[in-house]
Amino acid sequence: MSPPRKLHIKSYGCQMNVYDAQRMVDTLAPEGFVETASAEDADLVILNTCHIREKASEKIYSELGRLRAMKEEAALGGREVTIAVAGCVAQAEGEEIIRRAPVVDIVVGPQSYHHLPQLLARARRDGRALETEFPVEDKFGFLPPPKPDAIRARGISAFVTVQEGCDKFCTFCVVPYTRGAEVSRPVAKIIDDVKRLVDNGVREIMLIGQNVNAYHGEGPDGRPWPLGRLLDRLAEIPGVLRLRYSTSHPLDVEDSLIESHRDNPALMPFVHLPVQSGSDRILAAMNRRHTAGEYLEVIERFRRVRQDIAFSSDFIVGFPGETAEDFAATLALVTQIGYAAAYSFKYSPRPGTPAADMRETVSQPEMDERLERLQQLIDSQQSAFNLAAIGTTVDVLFERPARKEGQIVGRTAYLQPAHVMASSDIVGKVLPVRVESLERYSLLGHLAARPPLAAYPHESRMITGA
Ligand code: 5AD
Ligand code: SF4
Repeated sequence: MSPPRKLHIKSYGCQMNVYDAQRMVDTLAPEGFVETASAEDADLVILNTCHIREKASEKIYSELGRLRAMKEEAALGGREVTIAVAGCVAQAEGEEIIRRAPVVDIVVGPQSYHHLPQLLARARRDGRALETEFPVEDKFGFLPPPKPDAIRARGISAFVTVQEGCDKFCTFCVVPYTRGAEVSRPVAKIIDDVKRLVDNGVREIMLIGQNVNAYHGEGPDGRPWPLGRLLDRLAEIPGVLRLRYSTSHPLDVEDSLIESHRDNPALMPFVHLPVQSGSDRILAAMNRRHTAGEYLEVIERFRRVRQDIAFSSDFIVGFPGETAEDFAATLALVTQIGYAAAYSFKYSPRPGTPAADMRETVSQPEMDERLERLQQLIDSQQSAFNLAAIGTTVDVLFERPARKEGQIVGRTAYLQPAHVMASSDIVGKVLPVRVESLERYSLLGHLAARPPLAAYPHESRMITGA
């Protein structure tokens, strides 16, 4: 039997890429590949690229320079190393990569990962292999089911892709071009995936997609199901303790989703709802198709059915034409909403998007200053949110032993890490924790004797009178 070949994947960017990396591992496992943490001893190195943020492609070319040196050194020792570029940069700039970087053997776009074994064979035969386009209907096709071992290694929480692509065309964003039109997977396939994961010990499912709440996959009744209905169906699967979804667009928040937050105790009260800016003028220039006021109304719809709901968001500072007044409107919106967490980015032009042609750019020092101020505000809100947990009892889904001997770590409904001293048989269970202190972003506490009220959302709502 030939020894296993080693595979190293370096992922950049969003959680979709983290999930895709796992898909690539699953696809290559039957070919005899096992994962390795270092590029140096790998036979196949895959750069899983992201096109969204600053200077994405330059970073890839400099990484490829390093890999070339590594590949040449391995060749001197008689070892052949294959280099592949995957992800959204591969999709967008495949031909260019092949031309500019002779070290690259394979270029593969996100819709073709199930072809990796054939691409490897083709690269061996022809020297290079390029595949960045594939018919949309095959987007989710042909993947071998993940092996139980691979699933178990993923632990208690797992991602399941339910839709891909986006039809929104925000003027700064490459996703509609790189990931293509919005496509939803049928409900039955998602149920199968979730059952398989739960059978292998997974207890929390994060449904993911670039615009996840645009989900409209075909239900068992042959009709399109909205995300809320899918979430309610998945909650019926025995063993599913927690459900989440990401990332959502404010315009696609349907009543079924709000109702699911009201009635489905497995659905966690923590919603990532990017707004990008608090200025109506900038929101219009971004083609977000809603105002700050309309965003606030969406937030209110969630809050009306679930007072303990918390939000996170994404922000872009320094979008072309953003004035001091526009930026002040962003700070005002953040202040009004109060986020549990948020990510903020400096605007960076992405070639091929409408915003890249906009002239009124904001200077770097101004962008830096705005980013700093926004992050300070967000940090102070996050700290206040975390501090508020001290002295309360919260539900924690325990995930694994922590680094400190005897300690087990899990997450609260709001994804805050929580540590307790306990035996490892609590892994995979949701248990109440009395929070005593905060260490950086982590809650420290002990297992509480009685379940918190939050374990019974319906009762707690009765008590608060909602
Ligand atoms: N410049 C800066 N940030 C961007 N994002 C997407 N495109 C850009 C860009 N061109 C941010 C948005 C999005 C997150 C995933 O990345 O805030 O919600
Ligand atoms: Fe990009 Fe999100 Fe806008 Fe779609 S909704 S275009 S993924 S920022």
